[in-house]
Amino acid sequence: MRIGIMGLGRIGAFHAETLSGLPAVTSLVVTDPFTDAAKSAAERFGAEVADSPEAVLAAGVDGVVVAAATDAHPGLVLAAVEAGVPVFCEKPVARTMREGVAVLEAVRDAGVEIQIGYNRRFDAGFVAARAAVASGELGALHTVRSTTLDPAPPPPAYVAASGGIFRDCSVHDFDIIRWVTGREVVEVYATGGNRGADYIAAAGDADTTAAVLTLDDGTLAVVSNSRHNARGHDVRMELHGFRDSIAVGLEDRLPLRSVEPGTSFPAGTPHDFFMDRFAAAYRAELTAFTEVVAGRRPSPCTVADALEAGWIAEACTLSLHSHRPVTVEEVRRQS
Ligand SMILES: NC(=O)c1ccc[n+]([C@@H]2O[C@H](COP(=O)([O-])OP(=O)(O)OC[C@H]3O[C@@H](n4cnc5c(N)ncnc54)[C@H](O)[C@@H]3O)[C@@H](O)[C@H]2O)c1
Repeated sequence: MRIGIMGLGRIGAFHAETLSGLPAVTSLVVTDPFTDAAKSAAERFGAEVADSPEAVLAAGVDGVVVAAATDAHPGLVLAAVEAGVPVFCEKPVARTMREGVAVLEAVRDAGVEIQIGYNRRFDAGFVAARAAVASGELGALHTVRSTTLDPAPPPPAYVAASGGIFRDCSVHDFDIIRWVTGREVVEVYATGGNRGADYIAAAGDADTTAAVLTLDDGTLAVVSNSRHNARGHDVRMELHGFRDSIAVGLEDRLPLRSVEPGTSFPAGTPHDFFMDRFAAAYRAELTAFTEVVAGRRPSPCTVADALEAGWIAEACTLSLHSHRPVTVEEVRRQS
């Protein structure tokens, strides 16, 4: 199978490496306006270089991976769909919900599969958690805790263009809470703090946040995020039901130090980067995309799925800035 890649920055180059190692992928065609990035991927992974996204689509590709900067996602996704080529697009669908909804409307009846890159859906721990909830072994849930703590903040230019921590980072928690529990979020109450890098506050953003989400069956989900977690990249989820409790990410590389006497857990080297924490999940995600391209399965994360996580991020952003609970319906109506 011949796969095109549009965008070879941080995640695009990583996806190029993963794709080049998948047995289903026989050739890669890559493009990036920053031509050195495309040339370097071509050299490292034996890819062909195309001088534009149009040239990638004209090069007989079976599927394309969009890993370009977020602003470019809608145009590149629509070009692939128009060419009838299945597309994997990194999250988010678009920079704003308005543009994301426009993409959804434009592709609704196109009959071309689109997979959005919420990689946690392919992590073995989250997959097991979803199965445990679905089996009923936990009983009805009452509490979910979802945590994403980054070791260090991104640079100022990234923060300024990110749309804020809820849209950029917590959106992964929001997607995985929906996917693991199978429930929708109806209301959020969010707050944030700024005790770290000054440029985050200057950009009008928080460096540390907490949000309480109320799910449509009354379960409470507590989401905790920070750009400052010196011990490492900490991604975890706890699910507490009336019959049992489970945890994702409670393994030896968890970046947390126990002070309990006689306890040696966790004993491993802490995860220090999301690409390290989720390397296997990214591989499983792109393997799934090759199955989508081959027509063996539908998209495991549609544009509509991805937009739902986006609405929760919008509600949390409004809640943070207005200091009040916000329903997801309110932000949907306002857009
Ligand atoms: N799912 C995840 O875990 C995850 C992780 C990181 C990034 N992302 C997403 O991936 C996207 C890229 O992030 P990044 O960190 O790699 O950014 P980056 O800035 O490192 O790379 C973006 C690349 O896109 C290229 N580009 C811009 N416009 C283009 C176009 N029209 N066609 C082709 N290439 C174009 C740029 O030249 C650059 O090389 C973002 O949307 C981000 O949200 C997702």
